[in-house]
Amino acid sequence: MTVKTSAPPAHSKILILDFGSQYTQVIARRIRELQVYSEIVPFNISSAEIENLQPKGIILSGGPASVYEKDAPQVDPKIFSLGIPVLGICYGLMQMAHHLGGQVEFSGRREFGAGMLRITNGSELFDGLGAQLDVWNSHGDEVTALPKGFRAAGQTDSSNFAAVEDPQRKLYGLQFHPEVAHTPRGKEILQNFVYHICHCAMDWTMGSFIEEACERVRRQVGDAKVVLGLSGGVDSSVVAALLHKAIGDQLTCIFVNNGLLRDREEEVVQRVFGENFHVRLKYVDASDRFLSKLRGVTEPETKRKIIGNEFIEVFQHATEELLAEDRQNGAGKPGGYKFLAQGTLYPDVIESVSIGGNPAQVIKTHHNVGGLPEKMHFALVEPLRQLFKDEVRQAGSQLGLPKEVVYRQPFPGPGLAVRILGEVTPERLSILRAADTIVQSEMEAADWYYKVWQSFAVLLPVQTVGVMGDQRTYENTVALRIVESQDGMTADWVRLPYELLARISNRISNEVKGVNRVCYDISSKPPSTIEWE
Ligand code: XMP
Repeated sequence: MTVKTSAPPAHSKILILDFGSQYTQVIARRIRELQVYSEIVPFNISSAEIENLQPKGIILSGGPASVYEKDAPQVDPKIFSLGIPVLGICYGLMQMAHHLGGQVEFSGRREFGAGMLRITNGSELFDGLGAQLDVWNSHGDEVTALPKGFRAAGQTDSSNFAAVEDPQRKLYGLQFHPEVAHTPRGKEILQNFVYHICHCAMDWTMGSFIEEACERVRRQVGDAKVVLGLSGGVDSSVVAALLHKAIGDQLTCIFVNNGLLRDREEEVVQRVFGENFHVRLKYVDASDRFLSKLRGVTEPETKRKIIGNEFIEVFQHATEELLAEDRQNGAGKPGGYKFLAQGTLYPDVIESVSIGGNPAQVIKTHHNVGGLPEKMHFALVEPLRQLFKDEVRQAGSQLGLPKEVVYRQPFPGPGLAVRILGEVTPERLSILRAADTIVQSEMEAADWYYKVWQSFAVLLPVQTVGVMGDQRTYENTVALRIVESQDGMTADWVRLPYELLARISNRISNEVKGVNRVCYDISSKPPSTIEWE
């Protein structure tokens, strides 16, 4: 297997071998919070490849398997003699014990939850941490005999070898999880490992990332041109700002108005990127095209497919127009736009290397501007491939993007179409836009907008009876969807103050013509999804 990494060798680097733990990404995050670059690689990376990557330290993640199981993931044992410090966490510790001649047994009971670690031997790993630590366990196997050269460094009530070490060879193992919040001083343990045992420098900062990313992009594209589908979302916006800094006018952004945007969205994007950043921006108003294709369509997946396909066509056409314009201006080069930039993030990259990663069943076909390349023979420029979402936000702020762009809530590629149940018509779009504007402005005014994952209105295909003055009305229903979430995979409805809900509801039914009822969606995901379609 070859592992492609894009980290510049100048950085201190910690490699994390992924044995399939739900916490692997959390480990990577924690290390980066220490301003040390970390990268997740598959568990079966060879020791030769590791040497090539020149990490200062290696962490073996936890994982759901048991070391003696048939097909259990096994590390290349040669990594333990590279002279690079290794920290095994949970299953990682079992791997270490198993391959170095210790004994691992299924303890007969799975241990989950809080425990107390008593530190016994003054290990460097626990420097400055006192004699006892609250720790978080989640494991079934247990080390029952240590490999030669190892000694115990900490015990819990249920295990004599909850922390072990061979300081000579710089090998360390923890049965508990230092990376999770339930191990309150876990960060200090990782700090000791990364700074004092591996001697990493704190050289992973946003400033240095931006400079290096710009340099890499310049090297990659030379004097060729790059096109970027700008959606106005955080990721594509940060890519735009970064590439603009790196290659200036070699970048052209295409912003497609599909007629399904929120109120004044196209103005905001044009103002931020065209006027403030002076990015070369091609604005394409394709609203009519999208809306006519959507006429009469009510089935959610069909809507999504139409919008996705239409977007590809419009985008393709726009790049051809760009080429023609350039030719007219004498700026056209043979080969034209060779590169397509995309806001691919680190979690998208690692999902493809992780073990046991069953591609989840398709619940909804997600559309975003990233769905383009297969049909379009571009080479890809993906300057955010190394970053987690919050690092992307940091980069955006550092590049000078306004808070409204950097911290904006996610907005689906198919836009308001998936928030209008039933047919998407200009009339229904304008009802939803008006309701949505009220939701956003009240959420902002009450200081709630940035505290939640998403807050929006949904227009239902339901009319109900109401009364206004002495008049009977028979009009539309709007649902409010306001959720908290870490990553959009699971979510819960937000317990908003009643006063705020009342204000939003009153304003929508009073100010939005055609709406006489507002409901609050109190479903979590799962079993519901965040969007209604
Ligand atoms: P669901 O509705 O699947 O949404 O619970 C999870 C998150 O994804 C967003 N979403 C999309 N994002 N293109 C996107 O870029 C899409 O087609 C799309 N559909 C849903 C949704 O807003 C939520 O944050």
